[in-house]
Amino acid sequence: FGRKLKLLEVTTSTQEEVRLLAELGAAEGTLVIAEEQTIGRGRQGRRWHSPAGKGVWMSLLLRPPLPLTRAPQLTLLSAVAVCRAIRAVTGVEVGIKWPNDLLVHGRKICGILLESIGEDEMIRYCIAGVGIDANLEPSDLPPELRTIATSLQIESGRKVDRVVLIGAVIAELEKFYELYLEEGFAPIGHLWEALSVTTGQDITVKTAQGEVRGRAMGLDENGGLLVMQEDHRLTTIFSGEVQIDGC
Ligand code: BTN
Repeated sequence: FGRKLKLLEVTTSTQEEVRLLAELGAAEGTLVIAEEQTIGRGRQGRRWHSPAGKGVWMSLLLRPPLPLTRAPQLTLLSAVAVCRAIRAVTGVEVGIKWPNDLLVHGRKICGILLESIGEDEMIRYCIAGVGIDANLEPSDLPPELRTIATSLQIESGRKVDRVVLIGAVIAELEKFYELYLEEGFAPIGHLWEALSVTTGQDITVKTAQGEVRGRAMGLDENGGLLVMQEDHRLTTIFSGEVQIDGC
């Protein structure tokens, strides 16, 4: 991964850059990194605040020979890889909130956006976008983010070497991607569980079908979130926004 690398001073979104390269036939592992994004994209149509020179804003092209139904597992895989890389490089105890938000003390430090483009039920390509709030200071966070987001610098009191961090993220992504293609989701699921801050917590999940409340029980074998509802019915959530109660 990262042997084909495009480094940009500024772009709208590295997701868009990779999409264009993918449509032109770029190889798996192609990576785009930008110092600044003017229209950084988050999940569920949200914006991703991406100030110049402060974070890691990168997107990676994947071409897994898998059905589209497996794409959510790549989301969990990315969270495991990035979480481990951040921990190894900075020592900051980052945890994963289902499916792939990385949190420290309940505040978001990294977001992952996995976009999949399919054809005939198969994945044609995926774009794994990673945004890490590395060296943002409190004043770099807009007021609406100050209580819900943080950065590695704020948490560790030190500037993070972004080049070292990017190297670690790419190495972990490549390692777990290969493991996943060889052995399937089970080993990734176990690693995800070990890093989860969701499992065992009382949560409220906003889904397209409405709100689900209950206790997070972990992952099912496909990477869905198992929730024990208040009436003791076990349900699996495939997509939604998790709120950890009391946080
Ligand atoms: C989220 O909402 O949690 C996902 C945020 C993903 C942000 C990254 S930054 C690099 C890549 N380019 C984008 O426009 N978004 C992703």
